[in-house]
Amino acid sequence: MSAPSMPKFNGIPAIGLGTYPLQGQNCTDSVLMALELGYRHIDTAQMYGNERDVGRAIAGSGIKRDALFVTTKVDPSNLGAARFAGSVQRSMDDLGGPADLLLIHWPPPDAEIDATLDRLKAELDRGMARRIGISNFTPRMMRQAVKRLGPIISCNQVEFHPLLDQTLVKATADELGFPLVAYSPIGRGKALQHPAISEIAARLARPASEIVLRWIMQQGVISIPMTTKRANAASNLNILSFALSEADMATISAIGTRRGRMVSGWMTGRWDS
Ligand SMILES: NC(=O)c1ccc[n+]([C@@H]2O[C@H](COP(=O)([O-])OP(=O)(O)OC[C@H]3O[C@@H](n4cnc5c(N)ncnc54)[C@H](OP(=O)(O)O)[C@@H]3O)[C@@H](O)[C@H]2O)c1
Repeated sequence: MSAPSMPKFNGIPAIGLGTYPLQGQNCTDSVLMALELGYRHIDTAQMYGNERDVGRAIAGSGIKRDALFVTTKVDPSNLGAARFAGSVQRSMDDLGGPADLLLIHWPPPDAEIDATLDRLKAELDRGMARRIGISNFTPRMMRQAVKRLGPIISCNQVEFHPLLDQTLVKATADELGFPLVAYSPIGRGKALQHPAISEIAARLARPASEIVLRWIMQQGVISIPMTTKRANAASNLNILSFALSEADMATISAIGTRRGRMVSGWMTGRWDS
């Protein structure tokens, strides 16, 4: 029997490989390993300093480029008019061609959001990306992005795992009509130790990581777990052959709190703005 095919949400494969903080040969090897296992979606960023390493893996994989989905993100230091286009050109040179998805990695100051969105759209128009989207945008900023650019916003990539309550961001994305992409989807390993998740994992005889990634996928959210280990990479892809009951989904959804955030970055003090 052939393996079930990977669902796509808004054209984005539901599971991808995260590549932060991998660099150099370690990054190239991890991406190649993932591609061998069947991953077709890779997440990188200018900030990670590994676009060239990802590009090397893509070129060496022997997989046709149009069978892959590659996301990259414009660094906060490159969002201004003087640097945006040049930085995207360098990313595309390193990746070996246009990205499938180009994101603003972190929102700029409020007064600069519209102009930054216009620069992102210009990259779509000049063929540097097939889709564009946002990352770490709050609900208010998500609405502003759609007001400015309309339905071409493909996703918002945000921290999303069972320990963090992202109800409002998810509801806003649903209302605006685009999916979320979950970063740190297994809470950098911490979500795997929660007793309610361990109980479900034991009952279903599945690793806790598969329970968490299935919970994310079953909500229509894409996830990009990072791993350098073959067994973990294979397991993270292995969530198509089972489903969680409504009761188990609700149990996991009740775990998250607003204090569960692990990554704050450029947004300290702005998440609730
Ligand atoms: N947009 C943004 O601002 C932003 C911010 C942060 C991250 N990201 C992206 O999201 C990706 C993922 O997030 P993340 O790396 O922060 O966290 P994560 O994927 O939740 O956690 C990564 C950790 O989980 C472990 N792991 C992976 N699969 C496992 C499994 N099946 N069983 C047990 N442990 C497992 C990995 O270790 P092993 O290597 O030992 O498996 C690694 O230590 C990043 O790589 C990056 O591409 C984006």
